[in-house]
Amino acid sequence: MFFECLCLLSLGATLSFAQQNCPGYTASNIQQSATGLTADLTLAGEACNVYGFDLTNLTLTVEYQSGNRLHVLIQDQNQSVYQVPTDIFPGPESLPSASASNSNLRFAFTQSPFSFAVARSNGETLFNTSGNPLVFENQYLNVRTSLPDSPNLYGLGEHSDPFRLNTTNYTRTIWNRDSYGIPAGTNLYGAHPIYVEHRGGSGTHGVVFVNSNGIEVKINDTQGQYLEYNTLGGVFDFYFLAGPSPVEVSQQIAEVVGLPANIPYGGLGFHQCRYGYRDIYEVAGVVYNYSQAGIALETMWTDIDYMFRRYVMTVDPDRFPMAKVRELVNYLHAHQQKYTVMVDPAVAYQPNTGYGALDSGIQQDIFLKTSNGSLYTGVVWPGPTVFPDWFSPNAQTYWTGQFDSFFSSETGIDIDYLWIDMNEAANFCNWPCSDPQGYAEENNFPPDPPPVRNSSPIALPGFPADFQPPSSSARVKRQDNAGLRMGLSGRDLINPPYQIRNAAGSLSNKTINTDLVHYNGLVEYDTHNLYGTMMSNHSRNAMLSRRPQERTLVITRSTFLGAGTYVAHWLGDNISDWPHYRISIAQMLAFSAFFSLPITGSDVCGFGGNTTELLCARWMMLGAFYPFYRNHNELGSVSQEAYRWESVAESARRAIDIRYRMLDYFYTAVYEQTVDGTPSLNPMFYVYPNDSNTFGIDLQYFWGSSVLISPVTEENGTSVDIYLPQDIFYDWNNGFTPVQGSGTTVTLYNVDFQTIPIHIKGGSVLPLRARSANTTTELRKQPFQIVIAPGTDGTASGSLYIDDGISLEQAAISYISFSWDGSNFSMNGTYDYSTGVNISQIILLGQRSAPSGAITGDQYFPVAYNSTSQVASVNVSIPLTGDSSMRFGQVASYIGNAFALGTNLYLAATALLLILVAAQNL
Ligand SMILES: *[C@@H]1O[C@H](CO)[C@@H](O)[C@H](O)[C@H]1NC(C)=O
Ligand SMILES: *[C@@H]1O[C@H](CO)[C@@H](O)[C@H](O)[C@H]1NC(C)=O
Ligand SMILES: *[C@@H]1O[C@H](CO)[C@@H](O)[C@H](O)[C@H]1NC(C)=O
Ligand SMILES: *[C@@H]1O[C@H](CO)[C@@H](O)[C@H](O)[C@H]1NC(C)=O
Ligand SMILES: *[C@@H]1O[C@H](CO)[C@@H](O)[C@H](O)[C@H]1NC(C)=O
Ligand SMILES: *[C@@H]1O[C@H](CO)[C@@H](O)[C@H](O)[C@H]1NC(C)=O
Ligand SMILES: *[C@@H]1O[C@H](CO)[C@@H](O)[C@H](O)[C@H]1NC(C)=O
Repeated sequence: MFFECLCLLSLGATLSFAQQNCPGYTASNIQQSATGLTADLTLAGEACNVYGFDLTNLTLTVEYQSGNRLHVLIQDQNQSVYQVPTDIFPGPESLPSASASNSNLRFAFTQSPFSFAVARSNGETLFNTSGNPLVFENQYLNVRTSLPDSPNLYGLGEHSDPFRLNTTNYTRTIWNRDSYGIPAGTNLYGAHPIYVEHRGGSGTHGVVFVNSNGIEVKINDTQGQYLEYNTLGGVFDFYFLAGPSPVEVSQQIAEVVGLPANIPYGGLGFHQCRYGYRDIYEVAGVVYNYSQAGIALETMWTDIDYMFRRYVMTVDPDRFPMAKVRELVNYLHAHQQKYTVMVDPAVAYQPNTGYGALDSGIQQDIFLKTSNGSLYTGVVWPGPTVFPDWFSPNAQTYWTGQFDSFFSSETGIDIDYLWIDMNEAANFCNWPCSDPQGYAEENNFPPDPPPVRNSSPIALPGFPADFQPPSSSARVKRQDNAGLRMGLSGRDLINPPYQIRNAAGSLSNKTINTDLVHYNGLVEYDTHNLYGTMMSNHSRNAMLSRRPQERTLVITRSTFLGAGTYVAHWLGDNISDWPHYRISIAQMLAFSAFFSLPITGSDVCGFGGNTTELLCARWMMLGAFYPFYRNHNELGSVSQEAYRWESVAESARRAIDIRYRMLDYFYTAVYEQTVDGTPSLNPMFYVYPNDSNTFGIDLQYFWGSSVLISPVTEENGTSVDIYLPQDIFYDWNNGFTPVQGSGTTVTLYNVDFQTIPIHIKGGSVLPLRARSANTTTELRKQPFQIVIAPGTDGTASGSLYIDDGISLEQAAISYISFSWDGSNFSMNGTYDYSTGVNISQIILLGQRSAPSGAITGDQYFPVAYNSTSQVASVNVSIPLTGDSSMRFGQVASYIGNAFALGTNLYLAATALLLILVAAQNL
């Protein structure tokens, strides 16, 4: 093993102020081993002290952790500088077999001034800091890598910028923020300092930066292309991931940040929510109207409206009396539907009023405090509030206790899933927020609730007879809920010398003060970006404590690296307009493919502002191909439940029908992501990594790895330009007719407002349910239909994972591989979960002539054939209890010339005509 000096020349790029003026470091005491090296790094000259003071002594630790992962850690020698706590971000372990000699990556460095490079074993440089002195100060760190010209860079979330990142004059700020409207060019709710660089044929790699301080990534091409990290603290903690395929990069990211949590099958159903349901009767009315409209509603949600004056862990006794909420939940459960509500972290500061969530939090000492020991107070929905300190040793006990009583199945709201919000943490009150009470009063927090309904009862057939508003508004008593790497001292924790471009202004503005000290001594300045993920973790544990045998689904707003191991994420407060409809695709792709957080989605039909009928019709269809599918709306906006317009109702019915028929296919993809990080949504370049036309595509994507979704994206439009790579596809909306892609853009015309273009990629076998259903519980009782979509080589494969969809620990699962070799369909796998349903049909696409029959064992089945769509199908009854195969006879070369959209007609070279001898077996 040999570490050569790359001795790269400085590229002459414009250096930042700090880089020009700082001396960099010199490496000494270099100790090499089979698995890496260590060295001391000493400040190479006079301190520059540009944004604080330079640290004199650092250490470098390089570890080859697996064949495709290299860890580079540059920390202060004393390890006094804050580092992300390992109980929150454990990080990956080295494989025992890992060593420099069997790694696909190479680490090289120059001693003085110290710089390092990471290259592939074939010599291709991926990351190279030479020419740019490392800056490591107490409140500012800087490292810059040069990159090839016009690189294809992705990630660095959370943001709403173009999917493929700008490479010129581009700043990406990472500092979690309550970011209404999710404006482009700003920092949003989550912190995922991960980038993926795709270089086409020569491969894809990833870089994970484990750092929870405020970060500004700058990407620029002035005199040489570079990417540079500026961070307000922490250490240089990098994982370099070799890929080389995009999917492998996603898998390697998942190894670093953690595999995503399993979700309940029902979580993939359709959800309805809004902010501004005036009372429980209106919520019940929505459930009723969905049922009347014949639109499958899986989960009904309630925003903060249900709370008494927006206090968490309370209900509004007039509008959402507990007894009535419980009745609604019982009704939903009896109809196989589910209920979810929102919980915020901030607890109303209303001392001496018998408010249990506050009193027990004070008693258990779990709230954040100021330096003089008093409770830190900000302003959120309920007015003045205090904030849980998730680092407090009692925080979990407190939170679980609140959940156990308020969400008790016996006496409380028996929610099925959970929604957590405002956990950046959001604080309405501007820093320094010296008068929370005054601010709350001036700004009307909590806002006045809507007048209590006093009208005559609403008749809701099917609901309990007394499900009507009370005649008087008798106040019910409110629910009683008895229920060392610590960071350098001497830093300016409010106004650090280097200012990142936080869209909220100074670091502490609109959030918790960054100079607060947590229970364990860590400061908010260092841990701000962890707040939402720590709430997520605590909330997940609290949900699991309520139903210990069951998986849960927690939807959070704020996230950090690894949040997917606990929770799912909705993409925040978007706006009801076309740009937000479009950007939602890039956002969810980034979370699924790059951040190892598969269950995401934007508010369907848009949150803020007023939607339009046509936008909502399109969005109900696009949302059907989000992992998390929820219509949600803001207080004061026009109603947008799918049944409000017949055109939208019909688009919803049709889209849900398709989603549900594909639900097991997608559930399988999500399962596979939980096993090894293979993304369940795929950007087009993931599937066609050598086709440079796909690298910038962010309006089409693969749902799973086989179903290409190409929504109409223009206002009022009924046509869409879509890119079809050189491959065979099958048009879902046109009876599975084959379409030959030729690596060009084609225009689809007359796409009506109830249709979303969907193409199945050749080479796939899709397990579908034969019919949709009103709930996912009913869906699971439907038989399967297997769609075989042969690829250009005539073969196809796919998989199906089935479990009970509910249990945390599965007693039995089935995991089945399907394959098609051109004439034989076969399935192999494990069949331990008893589905109680069979495969009722096999549909074979792209058949230029009719197979005369199909045979399995000694049974012969006639084949129906549609020569227009070239689809052959056979009705069968194959139980999902064991391996099986079926042979199709006279299977012509399937691949089309007649149907080609593009120019190059492809004829399968060698298609054997298989003469079926079925008759002999009859
Ligand atoms: C840096 O390390 C050297 C050698 O170990 C030591 O003499 C010096 O005091 C250290 N400087 C600081 C600022 O810790
Ligand atoms: C990119 O470089 C130009 C020219 O040096 C500079 O003006 C600009 O501020 C840089 N942008 C970023 C985001 O660093
Ligand atoms: C770089 O971007 C900033 C804002 O993001 C803009 O003000 C500035 O003019 C841009 N500079 C160049 C050189 O494009
Ligand atoms: C990215 O580049 C595009 C096109 O040059 C520009 O319109 C957009 O404002 C840039 N976005 C950011 C966040 O810099
Ligand atoms: C805080 O945000 C408010 C509202 O955007 C702004 O007016 C104010 O200047 C900001 N204050 C600081 C200190 O950044
Ligand atoms: C949305 O429509 C409502 C009702 O017509 C109106 O009061 C409100 O101002 C509209 N909101 C916006 C942002 O246009
Ligand atoms: C879309 O149609 C609506 C209703 O006809 C119209 O008001 C709007 O201007 C149209 N938008 C565009 C971009 O054509």
